[in-house]
Amino acid sequence: MVDSIKNNVFKYESEKLAMMYYRVAIILLGAQLLMGMIIATQFLYPSFLFEIFDFSVARMVHINALIVWMLYAMIGTVYLLMPSETGIETVGIGLGKLLFWVLTAAITVVILVYIFVQVGSGTEASIWLIHEGREYIEAPRWADIGIVIVVLGFVFNVYATAIKGKRTGLMTVMMANLLALAGLYLCGMFYTDNITVDQFWWWWVIHLWVEATWEVYVATLAAWSLMQIIGAKRQIVEMWLWIEVAMLFGSGILGMGHHYFWIGTPEYWWEIGALFSALEPVPLIAMLVHVIYDWGKEAGRQGGTAHLANTPAFAWIIANGAGNFLGAGVWGFFHTLPQVNIYTHGTQFTSSHGHLAFWGAYATILIAMFYMGIQRAHGIKQMKASFNFKMSIWLLNIGMLGMTVALLISGYGQVLIERAQFGATWEGFFISQNAVWFVQGMGWRLVMGGVMLIGFVFLIVDLLSIGKNAKLRESAKV
Ligand code: HEM
Ligand code: HEM
Ligand SMILES: [Fe+2]
Repeated sequence: MVDSIKNNVFKYESEKLAMMYYRVAIILLGAQLLMGMIIATQFLYPSFLFEIFDFSVARMVHINALIVWMLYAMIGTVYLLMPSETGIETVGIGLGKLLFWVLTAAITVVILVYIFVQVGSGTEASIWLIHEGREYIEAPRWADIGIVIVVLGFVFNVYATAIKGKRTGLMTVMMANLLALAGLYLCGMFYTDNITVDQFWWWWVIHLWVEATWEVYVATLAAWSLMQIIGAKRQIVEMWLWIEVAMLFGSGILGMGHHYFWIGTPEYWWEIGALFSALEPVPLIAMLVHVIYDWGKEAGRQGGTAHLANTPAFAWIIANGAGNFLGAGVWGFFHTLPQVNIYTHGTQFTSSHGHLAFWGAYATILIAMFYMGIQRAHGIKQMKASFNFKMSIWLLNIGMLGMTVALLISGYGQVLIERAQFGATWEGFFISQNAVWFVQGMGWRLVMGGVMLIGFVFLIVDLLSIGKNAKLRESAKV
């Protein structure tokens, strides 16, 4: 298997296209971190960039860049794994490349508009041209329609390739899941004047992405890469994949009730949300056990140390198992019961969970995929852990954990002071924001964001130097 990777150096155009998507994804991740640092600074020093770069705009770019870089990395990874799963070149690869450029041009325009048109009234025209104002998926309507067209082209490529080539269980899950993932985007495109109705459908995108379709998606990536890296058996990973699909959809769909507690929807959502969302951590624990079990079993088979074709990717997959379990499972469970959520809703508790969950469940495994891609691109047989890699994985994860704990402490302060002591009054809101626990938490969040940023620089240096070193080794051989 390792040899087949060696022979694959740019064998498929599809793999090249994957790298194009990855490059944009990494640039957007960098932009996301920079925006995070700006808004974290504004939390402490509100005059920072006052009337030059608004908090609301920088925050919007921060979280929209997050969603977009992850979608880029996801599309890229589908193009990366498709040839090895189906045994053929991606059908419609020319279309795929064209769509990449169209999407990238559109996203550049959208971000420039966000940054240059910061204030103004919200009108029908601003929904079409500037942004729709739905957190995380704020793209204006012209871009929304463009995104739908691009994604239709992408889904066509996946289906055409899987139908023409070999169809594995993994590809079958991928096909069904991508259709759901893409289709859900439509729920966030319709504007209504009723804020309850608007929020009701908006959660169909946000919640059903991150707690159903994206989770299934990353489970397919874990299955694929474990086969590539440690030679896990297809039968075993695919069996787990099906179990996880069933469990994730079982709990994730009705678990959406945890967003329907206070938005004006009927009270029966309290019970439904409490029960099903409390079950959501179960598949996440199963996934963690699964990854560690596979690892241990492989090590046993190899007489103590398992053969690893790609150490950096594997380390990031382990970080994913732990991060998904902690960020989504544990941190999610913290505030998912309505009895708890009534106190934590709208505090930094949510942000603490949001950061660790997006990081642990998605950023980690997508970074693993960057390493999988670069390994194929340069035909590296066995990718070892370099110094830069070690620095990046530690700094990024310690930074994120530190940020999450700092936010948790700030949120705890808000719950005690604003909610418990002052009964959720306007006055309590401001008193809690000035309380020492809150302010110190915000300070540590900024420091830990800085740690992440340094880790990101190490990541870039590592990714860039892997290719260079591979080329140097090749030329040394000649
Ligand atoms: C990887 C999966 C997950 C991601 C990426 C994620 C991310 C997020 C984000 C970003 C928010 C804030 C949304 C906003 O802006 O209002 C949120 C809210 C929430 N999440 Fe998650 N989440 C995940 C899984 C879970 C799980 C498994 C649970 C429960 C066990 C959970 C429980 C909640 C609850 C209760 C809220 C609402 C908080 C509030 O508004 O009071 N999440 N999640
Ligand atoms: C340099 C590192 C980072 C810093 C300093 C930072 C800072 C911030 C700040 C200040 C906010 C606004 C919170 C509020 O409105 O109360 C925010 C929101 C958010 N950030 Fe970050 N961030 C960083 C990295 C990340 C990363 C890596 C992710 C995901 C992988 C992420 C995901 C989010 C999400 C989902 C929200 C919305 C949370 C919510 O509404 O509950 N951030 N971030
Ligand atoms: Fe949710």
